[in-house]
Amino acid sequence: MNAISPPIPLIPENAPFSPAQRAWLNGFLAGLYGGASNTGLHGGAGTAGMSVASPLSAEPEDFPWHDPALELDERMRLAEGRPLQQQLMAAMGQLDCGQCGYLCHSYAAALSEGRETSASLCVPGARPTARLLKQLLAEAPPAAAGAPAAARVISAVSAAPQSVAAVAPAAVTAPTGRAVRVLSAAALTRSGSSKDVRHVVIDLAESGLSYEPGDSIGLATPNDPSLVEATLAALGASGEEHVPCPDGATRPVRAAFTRYLDIARPLDRTTDLLAMSAKFPRHAEALRKLSEGADGTEPADADLLDLLDAFPSARPPLADLAASLPGLRPRLYSIASSLRASRGQVNLCVAVVRDMRRGRLRCGVGSGFLADRAASAGTVDAYIQPSHFRLPRDPAVPVIMVGPGTGIAPFRAFLAERAAAGIRGRAWLMFGERNRATDFLYEDELAAWHKDGTLSRLDTAFSRDQRRKIYVQDRMAENAEDLWRWLQDGAHFYVCGDATRMAKDVDAALRRLAMTEGRLSEHQARDWIVALARQGRYLRDVY
Ligand SMILES: Cc1cc2nc3c(=O)[nH]c(=O)nc-3n(C[C@H](O)[C@H](O)[C@H](O)COP(=O)(O)OP(=O)(O)OC[C@H]3O[C@@H](n4cnc5c(N)ncnc54)[C@H](O)[C@@H]3O)c2cc1C
Ligand SMILES: NC(=O)c1ccc[n+]([C@@H]2O[C@H](COP(=O)([O-])OP(=O)(O)OC[C@H]3O[C@@H](n4cnc5c(N)ncnc54)[C@H](OP(=O)(O)O)[C@@H]3O)[C@@H](O)[C@H]2O)c1
Repeated sequence: MNAISPPIPLIPENAPFSPAQRAWLNGFLAGLYGGASNTGLHGGAGTAGMSVASPLSAEPEDFPWHDPALELDERMRLAEGRPLQQQLMAAMGQLDCGQCGYLCHSYAAALSEGRETSASLCVPGARPTARLLKQLLAEAPPAAAGAPAAARVISAVSAAPQSVAAVAPAAVTAPTGRAVRVLSAAALTRSGSSKDVRHVVIDLAESGLSYEPGDSIGLATPNDPSLVEATLAALGASGEEHVPCPDGATRPVRAAFTRYLDIARPLDRTTDLLAMSAKFPRHAEALRKLSEGADGTEPADADLLDLLDAFPSARPPLADLAASLPGLRPRLYSIASSLRASRGQVNLCVAVVRDMRRGRLRCGVGSGFLADRAASAGTVDAYIQPSHFRLPRDPAVPVIMVGPGTGIAPFRAFLAERAAAGIRGRAWLMFGERNRATDFLYEDELAAWHKDGTLSRLDTAFSRDQRRKIYVQDRMAENAEDLWRWLQDGAHFYVCGDATRMAKDVDAALRRLAMTEGRLSEHQARDWIVALARQGRYLRDVY
């Protein structure tokens, strides 16, 4: 227990304030007592387009569930009694990752107004979100769902028009990209590792792109040509047939499958369409079950090729099939470099997604391309996604960085920036990976920064080097007193990496810290965290 700093005074639960007023006042007090006066309170950099806004950052709207650290049930409880659009939003992944072509808020609006017909676009929310969205839309009174989206989604199946002109492609608005060149994708994990993590170097030379540490880059990565060819073969297509693309143009289907359409993640409207065209009733039935998202339906996690292989009697017109597929979205990566140290370049730290399923190796579209094909692929369209994730303006403000796995990326950018500027302030990194011998990403660089004072503290948690898993939040608990003192000194607390498990657990560890070291009640601890976020001192870049 910390006897040095008094706990931050908090507005009691029973004081006559609304939760929002209490949180604001607590933020004010935390700022007063926690050193927020030297934090600059900025962090609100451009959030236009596919914003990766901090889920806990100050929201002008009242969306108390807009936090991926909350479980789906908890989010739905917070949205109970709210208008349909807000309940739809609460059912989503809350990452504002842009993978659906919207932000959570605008996807909910599009669904409720009937502008979007697919309820299965939310990648982080996956099947539970899709199921809940469909349920909410189906249960909504017609007036609540503008031009009733639910009815449109369902009628696309039951009214069974033989053309899917009514099933428009998702309303995607990819930012305009500039051509960049991937120079290399060297392994960061050593031989014998259970993972494949790459250090990707991208040349910005003629792109005119520039960035700040904390930003991400969006890359328009193409599908694997061997998957495209196998899919065309299953369709009996030559590849030259023209099909519609999400941007309104028509293109040869080979080009459309390569660069414009997502053939790895077909939507329920694709399974609906296949069901409509299936000549065998058992194929139609199985495809309908897949659309409904029933548990245990096969083929699970299917790409288009899996569906075509499993249901050879289902062959809709090629143009309709293309129109039912979602647009291929750019992949976002946190930038792991500073322009001060790596002139004209972007560095990335990318975990390669590979998975053997039904006898076929599946590679992530973006990570597979970067690791295996990008360096010989010519140029790739890219854009910079500006972020709220920024170093404090005042270099004297301490920074605490929690970044296991690829979550190290923006912290390498921060440290490279500080090293280049000669900043030797208080900077504490907590890094975790599976095994020290093979997975200590950027080990030499981190050691050098630790030695020269760019990094004042380095704690590691290698989860699989012993029987019991050790994670970054265990290091937080072991160093609770110091951590609390840093926070009392006004430190900014950053978290980057896995949203579904790690970020939630780190958030819970922070809450426990406030309870044990700050002697706050559970509710006060939550308010304290919200206040920290509202001051721009608790920043997350999680995916
Ligand atoms: C702001 C932000 C920052 C990020 N920063 C980083 C970072 O620094 N480093 C990093 O590594 N990632 C980062 N990500 C995640 C990154 O954007 C991608 O989501 C990640 O690389 C996986 O994308 P992918 O295209 O490789 O995989 P996807 O193609 O999207 O695959 C995802 C899933 O689909 C499955 N799948 C793919 N193809 C098939 C198929 N043919 N059949 C069946 N299943 C299939 C895969 O098995 C996998 O489970 C970030 C994300 C965001 C939003
Ligand atoms: N859904 C999944 O099962 C799964 C699995 C791997 C990766 N991913 C995704 O793949 C992407 C890249 O992953 P990554 O390579 O950056 O790292 P990562 O797979 O998230 O792992 C990095 C380190 O974090 C540990 N970790 C696991 N659960 C944790 C938790 N609850 N709290 C703290 N640490 C935890 C891991 O330990 P252990 O692995 O030993 O537990 C490992 O040591 C992320 O988007 C991640 O979400 C998903």
